[in-house]
Amino acid sequence: MQKKNTGTWRDDEAVAWDLIIPKSRTVQEIEFLEWTFNRFAERKVKDILDLGCGTARLAIELGSRGYRVTGIDKSASMIKRGRSNARERGVDITLYTSSLESLSVSGDFDAAYSVFGVVSYVLNEDELARLFSQLGTVVRKGGLLIVDVFNFASLFKTWKDVIKKTESGKGWRIERTESHRVDEINMLMYHEEDTRMTLRGKTKHWKETHVFRMWSFPEFRNQLLSHGFSHIRLFGEMKARSPKISTAAQRLVIVATKT
Ligand SMILES: C[S@@+](CC[C@H](N)C(=O)[O-])C[C@H]1O[C@@H](n2cnc3c(N)ncnc32)[C@H](O)[C@@H]1O
Repeated sequence: MQKKNTGTWRDDEAVAWDLIIPKSRTVQEIEFLEWTFNRFAERKVKDILDLGCGTARLAIELGSRGYRVTGIDKSASMIKRGRSNARERGVDITLYTSSLESLSVSGDFDAAYSVFGVVSYVLNEDELARLFSQLGTVVRKGGLLIVDVFNFASLFKTWKDVIKKTESGKGWRIERTESHRVDEINMLMYHEEDTRMTLRGKTKHWKETHVFRMWSFPEFRNQLLSHGFSHIRLFGEMKARSPKISTAAQRLVIVATKT
């Protein structure tokens, strides 16, 4: 398959991400992660790997709770901002630039997680297999792998061609137009964004295309089972104690144990 541009997450995107992601969402996701650690891990969770950590909102929160967190992300801009956010919060975490497709991490982990569809940026089978094979070696026996991706089959029914969003807060406003194209043969979704961000009176405008592979749950399950994970549980949202998934859920939240 031809290699596609999968979105670059430059400096402006990193700033915009920190502005638009609500604190309440981070709180709910952290509560979910800690719930899975306590409920499903067969070992005490201390060392954690954040795959596609972005500006490190989750890594920093977990670091502040005493976990030893390593975060990787393909975007140098997101990592730079993540380091600066961690310094500002006075939290000691390890962040570095690496892509999921050529993941290289040293050390072992009691849990690894990937939140907000990051694994969908991996576009082909060989790269996905390599990633799960790597994860099978770095997650300790009894540890957890938690993967949160969009349930494309469910979203497919509700996509509108063009979605316009405006979000604002103290001193900032972000207007975004999103459009989608789908390549149903190769199971790729092209997510195009046109963003205008006004921050402290200065306006910036940029366009990005993100390409996602529309992986399905059976594909993930096969990868997990082939690389030493079992007890695969599926949720429809990152909410602690939430019921297991219904077919209409917009997210696939997979929690598997390394055995
Ligand atoms: C929607 S953000 C989510 C960030 C973070 N997980 C969170 O929930 O705040 C997606 C992130 O995935 C990263 N990303 C995209 N493709 C990647 C890849 N192939 N390998 C590693 N990170 C990638 C982007 O740089 C970006 O930081």
